[in-house]
Amino acid sequence: MASRLNYSFPAVRIENMSLQQIDEVRRLEQEGGLEPWLPEDYHIILQEPNLWLALTASIAEEGSPEKIIGTGLARFLTTEMELCKIVTAVGFRRMGVAVQLLHRLLDEGRHRQCRACFLEVRPSNLNAIRFYEANGFRSVGMRPCYYANPEENALIMACEL
Ligand SMILES: CC(C)(COP(=O)(O)OP(=O)(O)OC[C@H]1O[C@@H](n2cnc3c(N)ncnc32)[C@H](O)[C@@H]1OP(=O)(O)O)[C@@H](O)C(=O)NCCC(=O)NCCS
Repeated sequence: MASRLNYSFPAVRIENMSLQQIDEVRRLEQEGGLEPWLPEDYHIILQEPNLWLALTASIAEEGSPEKIIGTGLARFLTTEMELCKIVTAVGFRRMGVAVQLLHRLLDEGRHRQCRACFLEVRPSNLNAIRFYEANGFRSVGMRPCYYANPEENALIMACEL
């Protein structure tokens, strides 16, 4: 996978998500067209670092407080990992933010001896599919009627680690 860490802007800081960031992360999910996970889900996720890794990408612009512009979440099973979501704020897309989050999550999967990463995505979400394809994922199957509101199949994508 090509390294995209040479972007000069934005100067992104990637760190483990904290409890204080839950509201901002949920706003980002909503803005990105995803159904935000519940605060109680995040409370569980953040208390189970052996199973989950939630990351945030932030920038500090001069004179402004630090702002979260991206988030990524993965779950680790024994030899597989699942990429649960990845979002970049509108206005910061196509700047390599998501790819930095993705690299960090996949590196963690390798570190935990996972051999493959799976994800589900709406077939109508062409931007995400192109992002995943550009980063080594390929389509491996379909789950019928997986999503609600609106109902849609899920495309299953995977990459080897
Ligand atoms: C999908 C998403 C996370 C990509 O985030 P991003 O920060 O813009 O992605 P990057 O800048 O890291 O993109 C890296 C590469 O992926 C590919 N890519 C990303 N978005 C793309 C798009 N809309 N169309 C085509 N290719 C795309 C490109 O190859 C890109 O490199 P390039 O800009 O040099 O051409 C973002 O569009 C988003 O937040 N979408 C809404 C939430 C969502 O649907 N998430 C996925 C399901 S959980």
